[in-house]
Amino acid sequence: MRSSPDSHQASFMPIRKAVFPVAGLGTRFLPATKAAPKEMLNVVDKPIIQYAVEEAYAAGIRHMVFVTGRSKRAIEDHFDTAFELESELEAAGKNALLEVVRSVKPDDMVVTYVRQPRALGLGHAVLCAEPLVGAQPFAVLLADDLMTGLSGGPNVLTQMVQAYEQSGASILAVQEVPEEHVSRYGIVAGQTLNAQTTRVERIVEKPKPEVAPSRLAVAGRYILSGDIFDEIRNLPKGVGGEIQLTDAIASLLQKQAVHAFAYEGKRYDCGSKEGFLQATVEMALQHPQVGAFFRNYLKELPIQA
Ligand code: G1P
Repeated sequence: MRSSPDSHQASFMPIRKAVFPVAGLGTRFLPATKAAPKEMLNVVDKPIIQYAVEEAYAAGIRHMVFVTGRSKRAIEDHFDTAFELESELEAAGKNALLEVVRSVKPDDMVVTYVRQPRALGLGHAVLCAEPLVGAQPFAVLLADDLMTGLSGGPNVLTQMVQAYEQSGASILAVQEVPEEHVSRYGIVAGQTLNAQTTRVERIVEKPKPEVAPSRLAVAGRYILSGDIFDEIRNLPKGVGGEIQLTDAIASLLQKQAVHAFAYEGKRYDCGSKEGFLQATVEMALQHPQVGAFFRNYLKELPIQA
């Protein structure tokens, strides 16, 4: 049953599907991404797309929808059975490794793929998922943004699903960014509802700092009402000549509640070399096998303060 957003009856449609737009070219990482998808770039021992899929799975989502494109086959292979590898590990009795390989796609996880035939923007990528998502609310995860919750706490998408279960509204993950960075993001402003939540009244894609409505930037996690598809369909091209998800959200919030949610945790922009390096160092420090070694190694490096 579908309830209207802001209703006090918390019986909203559950979030069952997550959409991963992975058709982008990754030009900021050339030559690494000449033949390999940027989503398969590795942080310590996992490709960045796997971090995002694990986050969605931990948030209770079992159906992953990849919006993919040409030259992204490695992503499909990664989430498929690796028959030869698994048989060899099994025959050799390497059960721990076999478990690692199989855990990439747990048995109860469904993965489906749809192609984005041309790179027409994030909004367009999300619209490509409509035949697989239908009219229900769904999550969108941009794998470039590697997100972590607080140590021991729920991950970012789990926090958002919990917030959605309270309000039924569409939810955008946001964080404050320095003024000089606002032109890299969708920027929101609105009415503060509580310490973590703002009811969005304005959202602008990549504004210049002088005209930005705030410094609250959208990170790559969204929970969106199924009504977003109609908004995307009716959009003209936006910034950069692309069909922008931000513009569709701007139309949606005229009709129903959209909340900006200041999550607890961290975001690493793995679409940039700097963010990718930060993620690598911090994930390595937290890694159960190599963390202690890496911490000692860093301490011994002759780096001047
Ligand atoms: C996209 C969105 C932008 C959002 C950002 C988060 O931009 O268009 O609104 O703030 O992701 O990472 P992109 O990074 O694809 O340029």
